Amino acid sequence: MTDQILITGCGTFIPSEVIDNETLVKAYNAHVEEYNREYSAEIAAGDRTALKNSSADFIKNASGIEERHVMEASGIIDPKRLRPNLGDRNPDELSYQAEMGLAAAKNALDQAKKSTSDVGMLISACSNYERPYPSLAIEVQKALGINGFAFDMNVACSSVPFAIRLAYNSLLTQPELPGVLIVSPEFYTGHLNFRDRDSHFIFGDAAGALYLERSETSKSSNAFSVKNIQLQTHFSNNIRNDGGFLRQAVNRTDPWHPRNLFSQQGRAVFREIVPLVSEMILNQLDEEGIRRSSLKRVWLHQANSKMNLLLAKKILEREPSHAELPLVLKNYGNTGAAGVVLAFSESQNLDPGSWGVFCAFGAGYSAGSVLLQKC
Ligand SMILES: CC(C)(COP(=O)(O)OP(=O)(O)OC[C@H]1O[C@@H](n2cnc3c(N)ncnc32)[C@H](O)[C@@H]1OP(=O)(O)O)[C@@H](O)C(=O)NCCC(=O)NCCS
Repeated sequence: MTDQILITGCGTFIPSEVIDNETLVKAYNAHVEEYNREYSAEIAAGDRTALKNSSADFIKNASGIEERHVMEASGIIDPKRLRPNLGDRNPDELSYQAEMGLAAAKNALDQAKKSTSDVGMLISACSNYERPYPSLAIEVQKALGINGFAFDMNVACSSVPFAIRLAYNSLLTQPELPGVLIVSPEFYTGHLNFRDRDSHFIFGDAAGALYLERSETSKSSNAFSVKNIQLQTHFSNNIRNDGGFLRQAVNRTDPWHPRNLFSQQGRAVFREIVPLVSEMILNQLDEEGIRRSSLKRVWLHQANSKMNLLLAKKILEREPSHAELPLVLKNYGNTGAAGVVLAFSESQNLDPGSWGVFCAFGAGYSAGSVLLQKC
């Protein structure tokens, strides 16, 4: 019998510092006041537009987010700074994202009851990297003492399903590979525009990790079999971040230049992503002959509570229960590629044989959906 490929371990890392909406908005509004005072003459002359205040109620109602965990809070809530205040770590120290990925990776290996000798390939799968090279994954590989190889990949918030596809194919075709570790360390607040009212509230920091292996080696009592993987990409500028290495060369060195940081057309994203993702999942269910009513869990990218609710309604053809649609946005915000792993980690209690869909989507546009069956 062909081995099944299983997810047998899931781990997360949540930074301890927390910023609630009220505190975030207080800092942003202090910036608005200062800006409008500094440019009052130009604003009065019509040469510049006054900034508008943000509001904690708007954030909660529009996104479902009430607070976010962050790697460094004091710099973000300082109105004169509005960005994390980090020490410049020495190259011999563990980098920030490696620290996040390492913590989540250890938790995933623990859940799978595996040691580092059970990992032959380590993939880092997230939206942004604090440096182009050496690879963050290789740094985590070294810190864990893993043989084999490691590499970074980036498909924005959809990175984890794309990494699952690589892990799945590798485990099926490379019998010498004991298991694959995927880490997704998202340090979103490092490239969030905290001067932008439309997006300053969206993201938090967190890491997720998954361990995949063949069924013959599994020792886990909490495993999920990967049954179908669908991936899609369609180019769009509606979620964009040009903060790459060419910014010096194209003379966009101002750290506050909006193109150097995350920006999105949120309404267009909502409108265009919902049909793309719901059709992808429904096609996937059709392909496998699974009825919508058999789906017991919809683990989604933690984008926005309204968007996730609408997606789940389209997939299930009814209102989902809290258990069917795990939402972790309230406490963590959108944590990029790590978000779907956080939702999965908090809600794995399914009966054997039950079906669930693990789906992420985001910039690209990109989307990936993994149909899972509880073992
Ligand atoms: C970003 C998002 C939460 C914004 O919600 P929205 O309801 O679409 O809000 P809009 O941006 O259209 O703004 C609605 C109004 O609130 C105002 N507003 C925007 N930000 C505000 C803030 N922080 N505080 C108060 N008011 C705000 C706008 O100016 C607008 O006012 P107007 O109607 O007078 O022009 C929502 O569009 C979204 O989640 N989209 C999907 C994003 C996503 O998932 N991206 C994926 C990233 S991986």
